[in-house]
Amino acid sequence: MSGFSLNWLALREAADDRARHADLRRAFLDALPPSPTLIDLGSGTGSTARALDITDARWILTDNDPVLLKEAARLIPEAATLHADLATDLETMLSRQADAITASALFDLVSEDWIARFARAAQGRIVYAALTYDGGEAWEPAHPADLAIARAFDTHQQRDKGFGPAVGPMGASVLTRALEAEGYTVTLAPSPWRLDQARDGTLMTALADGVAAAAVEAGCEQTEAQDWLDARRNASRCTIGHLDLLAVQG
Ligand SMILES: C[S@@+](CC[C@H](N)C(=O)[O-])C[C@H]1O[C@@H](n2cnc3c(N)ncnc32)[C@H](O)[C@@H]1O
Repeated sequence: MSGFSLNWLALREAADDRARHADLRRAFLDALPPSPTLIDLGSGTGSTARALDITDARWILTDNDPVLLKEAARLIPEAATLHADLATDLETMLSRQADAITASALFDLVSEDWIARFARAAQGRIVYAALTYDGGEAWEPAHPADLAIARAFDTHQQRDKGFGPAVGPMGASVLTRALEAEGYTVTLAPSPWRLDQARDGTLMTALADGVAAAAVEAGCEQTEAQDWLDARRNASRCTIGHLDLLAVQG
């Protein structure tokens, strides 16, 4: 099990969908052959497949959480769902025939070594890695504890999530370097969440809960985190930075 709940993934899906960089998404779709086969790593319930909505695609969705995979199979019955621990089974998974490899909100969880393994095993296939957290976090109105909370959260982001010490906010740049070293041409584009209370209040509350809990685990004072969290219940807006990446060989 991964610790990513069905509820959290469902809550973030609409915000993710809005945030994906439209031109990069279009460039990825244009680069695919007809009736492509795609492997989605850390698929959760299959939000990447739903967001890309590719005609005649053959999706292979892979994750180590059986609950999320079961939901993916229910939501996208035509996709293949494969249970795998990508920390150990990455090369086996990527030895499958596929035209492209996708991932969303995964590359901040993994380690630099794992990314180097990934880039080698990608073997020239198109890579589309969306929504990698980049460390940007801005809440409105501002609160005196914003900086302390953001620093503690980023420290927590770099803890081992099962793949070795996590790259956290450096995920997209580490992935860029690793893919370029394997001969890829890489394009990065911003894909921030732009949340506002009226539309995204439930997601903002869940996000603030998660950020505060992670900050406390990373050493932030409980009272400071609680004060910040209380204020965040009334936040009007929040921006969370992400990067989307498209990599093609040559
Ligand atoms: C932030 S969620 C993103 C899920 C999905 N891509 C999305 O955008 O909704 C990260 C995903 O990585 C999966 N994951 C984490 N560690 C994993 C591992 N060692 N092997 C396979 N999947 C893993 C989690 O189960 C979760 O579904």
